[in-house]
Amino acid sequence: MTTSSSHIDEYDQSKYWAAPARNFRSSARLRLQHLLVQNTLGYLLEPTIEKSVANAKPLKVADLACGNGIWLTELHSYLASNNIPAQLDGFDVNPIYFSHEAYLPPTVSLKQLDILAKPLPTELIGVYDVVHIRALGSIISDADLSPVLSVAFELLKPGGYIQWDESRGDRFVVESPEPQISKVHCDTLVHVLKAGLQAKGIVSDWVENLDTHLDKFGFQNVRQHVQQKRKQDFKGWTEDYLMVWEELAVLFPPRSKMPNAPMSREEWVDLFSKAVGETEQGVVVHQGMVVTAIGQKST
Ligand SMILES: C[S@@+](CC[C@H](N)C(=O)[O-])C[C@H]1O[C@@H](n2cnc3c(N)ncnc32)[C@H](O)[C@@H]1O
Repeated sequence: MTTSSSHIDEYDQSKYWAAPARNFRSSARLRLQHLLVQNTLGYLLEPTIEKSVANAKPLKVADLACGNGIWLTELHSYLASNNIPAQLDGFDVNPIYFSHEAYLPPTVSLKQLDILAKPLPTELIGVYDVVHIRALGSIISDADLSPVLSVAFELLKPGGYIQWDESRGDRFVVESPEPQISKVHCDTLVHVLKAGLQAKGIVSDWVENLDTHLDKFGFQNVRQHVQQKRKQDFKGWTEDYLMVWEELAVLFPPRSKMPNAPMSREEWVDLFSKAVGETEQGVVVHQGMVVTAIGQKST
């Protein structure tokens, strides 16, 4: 088997999240992912930020590309239990994930917005104490974070904070619990994905230097934390990725259409099913760590 760009030629970063295939399954997966990230980080608001914005009343927070808004609704519960008044606004290009407002806490609003479309709505400019971003690596091209950082910068009040929580989307660590348990199919699957991403120029090494990117962009008091994922969550992370990879079958051409494709849809489905078999024997796939970078807009 060879690996080449044509493995995932059908993958288009800019269209992936807006596609009709992203639905209740994607949203349910994001709820699992939220739990796993929280288990890793142990905080919603990074502690330095939480301390610094303690006097903001109400505390105004924007979550960019908020998905189903679970980070905001959990933040609502946390702030409410500490009697902190808040206005928590989520923005996402795909409103299919949103709960109806009748079921949202009163402090939380979710709105459809392509955060990269210009101009940004004027009522959002300079309004927020905190802008939060999480798991947005899939829309970053050529390690250019400036389009997203400039949105965060514009939305923040002078002195407001950015908090970006991210994992490397192009790194997967495959581990077998015992030498006699094979992980060969998981290794192959990860290799195919990595090669396809690389061929498309999608490399996420910027995640490890997120603080440098914030600093260079002009944020002040930049800090970065790296938290290793917990062993007891590895199985959960594995399930999370398997859900994504199962959906990727449509990116591979059926053998009947492209008999010479380096990997046909049928081969991917077969490889995926063998990889699942290995995970049922205890093999895990995870990304090692979650990075949080924070920075402050000048006053
Ligand atoms: C991996 S999900 C993360 C969701 C959420 N931040 C979380 O951690 O649960 C990526 C999200 O980015 C959203 N997204 C992608 N491109 C976007 C854009 N240009 N503007 C706004 N949202 C976008 C997708 O719809 C999706 O909900």
